[in-house]
Amino acid sequence: MTDLKLVNQDNFLEFVDTFIADSSCIIVGQKGHGKSKLAKHIARALMTSKKTTVQIFDSSLSWLNDFDFIPFQFCADYIEFDAITDSHMLYSIEFEDSQDVNFVVREIIRENYLKRRTLRIAEYMTNKMANTLAETNHKKEDIDTYYIGIIEEAQNFLSTYTLMARENRKWLKIISDCRNLRMSLIFIGQRLADISAKAVERANCYFFGKTISDNDLIKIRRILGSDNKHLIEKIKTLEKGQFLFWDGETACLIDLPEFKPKPHETPQLYFTQKRWFERNLESIWDKELTNEIRFWFTHMQKGLKEAQK
Ligand SMILES: Nc1ncnc2c1ncn2[C@@H]1O[C@H](COP(=O)(O)OP(=O)(O)OP(=O)(O)O)[C@@H](O)[C@H]1O
Ligand SMILES: [Mg+2]
Repeated sequence: MTDLKLVNQDNFLEFVDTFIADSSCIIVGQKGHGKSKLAKHIARALMTSKKTTVQIFDSSLSWLNDFDFIPFQFCADYIEFDAITDSHMLYSIEFEDSQDVNFVVREIIRENYLKRRTLRIAEYMTNKMANTLAETNHKKEDIDTYYIGIIEEAQNFLSTYTLMARENRKWLKIISDCRNLRMSLIFIGQRLADISAKAVERANCYFFGKTISDNDLIKIRRILGSDNKHLIEKIKTLEKGQFLFWDGETACLIDLPEFKPKPHETPQLYFTQKRWFERNLESIWDKELTNEIRFWFTHMQKGLKEAQK
């Protein structure tokens, strides 16, 4: 029977450092339970460490107006956007079709994954060569930052049905390999039943919000093991915003105050998209739409929060 440790505001940073920076996680819980807010706490904690690159993939507009300063890009079929590899980024995914959403997010994460893989191979080859030449003070290439991808609406990527497609099985390889490359992916979804067992077993950390559905409780029981019936009982009674954390050994009750964005801070449009808007504003939209977009764009430079006042 595993003891339940309490994680609150005082020890949350230490918790994130110990358990999250180097693992793949799944956050599940009922609609409105506080999953996105928890992910925001985690993202903020990780962004305070200079050695991480945090990228957030949000297809439900829940971060644009409720998070700290971070560059963001819209990903849509009428706009230019880039897969960025070395900087924090909030990708606001505007595609409607879940296959498009899947494609864009998968390829951006893959870009980061392949870059890290190449670096790792380069490091390996350099070391091998240096050993051969008995050279001792060569400059070693290394992956010195953690990459954390936070992915909303996990069912778009990891449902059993989605993973039947050959291209999508790349997700499983990335989830399995990523820890060796100092990469970790945090998937957020409403029901564990929406996420393929193949993906669930490749993750190594779980956050469970209040769950009452038998279908999900059966799956959670399998993850927690038969000794931990008391944790299952706890999951049934969690309050809004509380989560049970499990990494196969350690169980924690996560009990944080509601996430609040910092005053005067808001995500800001990435500079290449700002330039894209400036270039295209006059040419591609009709006049009425142009005025509306100009208003929105002007305010966007000040931050979306200001615009809503
Ligand atoms: N730690 C907390 N303490 C108190 N209330 C909270 C906490 N976290 C979230 N809430 C409340 O729950 C609401 C929903 O939070 P959030 O948007 O994070 O839920 P969600 O699980 O992501 O929902 P959805 O499934 O719709 O995406 C918040 O607006 C807030 O009022
Ligand atoms: Mg949410």
